[in-house]
Amino acid sequence: MKCLVLLLCLAQLCGCHSVPHGPILGNREPACDDPETEQAALAAVDYINKHLPHGFKHILNQIDSVKVWPRRPTGEVFDLEIDTLETTCHVLDPTPLANCSVRQLKEHAVEGDCDFNVLKQDGEFSVLSAKCDSSPDSAEDVHKMCPDCPLLAPLNDSRVVHAVEAALAAFNAQKNGSYFQLVEISRAQLVPLSASVSVEFAVAATDCVAKEVVDPAKCNLLAEKQYGFCKGTVTEKVAGGEDVAVACTVFQTQPVLPQPQPDGAEAGPLTTAPGSARPALSPAGQPAASLVVGPRAVAAPPTHYDLRHAFSGVASVESASGEAFHVGKTPKVAQPSIPAPEGPVPVVRPCPGRIRHFKI
Ligand SMILES: *[C@@H]1O[C@H](CO)[C@@H](O)[C@H](O)[C@H]1NC(C)=O
Ligand SMILES: *[C@@H]1O[C@H](CO)[C@@H](O)[C@H](O)[C@H]1NC(C)=O
Ligand SMILES: *[C@@H]1O[C@H](CO)[C@@H](O)[C@H](O)[C@H]1NC(C)=O
Repeated sequence: MKCLVLLLCLAQLCGCHSVPHGPILGNREPACDDPETEQAALAAVDYINKHLPHGFKHILNQIDSVKVWPRRPTGEVFDLEIDTLETTCHVLDPTPLANCSVRQLKEHAVEGDCDFNVLKQDGEFSVLSAKCDSSPDSAEDVHKMCPDCPLLAPLNDSRVVHAVEAALAAFNAQKNGSYFQLVEISRAQLVPLSASVSVEFAVAATDCVAKEVVDPAKCNLLAEKQYGFCKGTVTEKVAGGEDVAVACTVFQTQPVLPQPQPDGAEAGPLTTAPGSARPALSPAGQPAASLVVGPRAVAAPPTHYDLRHAFSGVASVESASGEAFHVGKTPKVAQPSIPAPEGPVPVVRPCPGRIRHFKI
């Protein structure tokens, strides 16, 4: 009798799980360094760099975790946790990411920590939601490795602001063409030993001629935007006064396209997968990704541009696609061993994945 009851139960269990038509819906957990996972992560990093309103491009450092959910009616959603590192390329710099170098520990590295939902559909990846945060390496860690290395300084420190003004003035004084105005202060370090301040800042060409500017406030940015990126060092001289060194790279002009301004309202439809011309739409027909671009003045953080100000909040997405890919959740016991599509690779420690550069 007991046997029979048990059998009945078993039969019922089996019945439960075999009722759904088609394959069982559940998540799979590929290895973090699985090529497909890496593709999803690279799409995520590409998204960061295309949507960052300021600061520096980021590069993938490590994939911490990954879960893949089937999505109705088609596609799969990669739920990813990734670590990034700041590069030396400003976001306005057209240099491809592969040619950008990682900001080294000695320069006071900055790490990004992101949660992404990336949809894979018809072989293409598109970002559904992004949430990032970033932080500079700790002062202790920098000094442990390099006691004399300068730390990141607050971007609104009066010495920093002064150094940027002096460097920009020096740049405008030595050139013939347009007057360039400040777009943002991107990075600053106070170098105590040499009593100098190193700054990195972005500039843009205006309709004023550098040599003839009287009131910079009256200059307007060109319709055909031309940005530049400068590094300057201002050193106090013992005898008084200061030395100003500045070097700027002026980028190619940007064609006057209907370029959405960072006002949040138009940022959503930009969520195209790399190489894809179509905006990614959620089932509800709304732009899938949520992206919050805050006003610059409010977003100014103490020492670096925190990714959090550009990528926060996944609310609009959770309601749209959350239900779509959590519906078919089944107990994990139902699928003891679904082999990864790449084949049965015996992975000892599938996650977190490898560190591509260095760990902060
Ligand atoms: C990027 O690097 C590649 C290979 O090193 C080189 O061929 C290419 O010219 C570089 N591109 C830029 C824009 O620096
Ligand atoms: C810099 O900004 C912070 C936060 O906005 C503020 O608390 C601080 O007083 C500012 N420092 C200077 C020197 O303006
Ligand atoms: C600046 O302009 C003057 C007059 O137009 C010209 O003679 C000179 O070569 C220019 N200098 C540079 C560095 O372009």
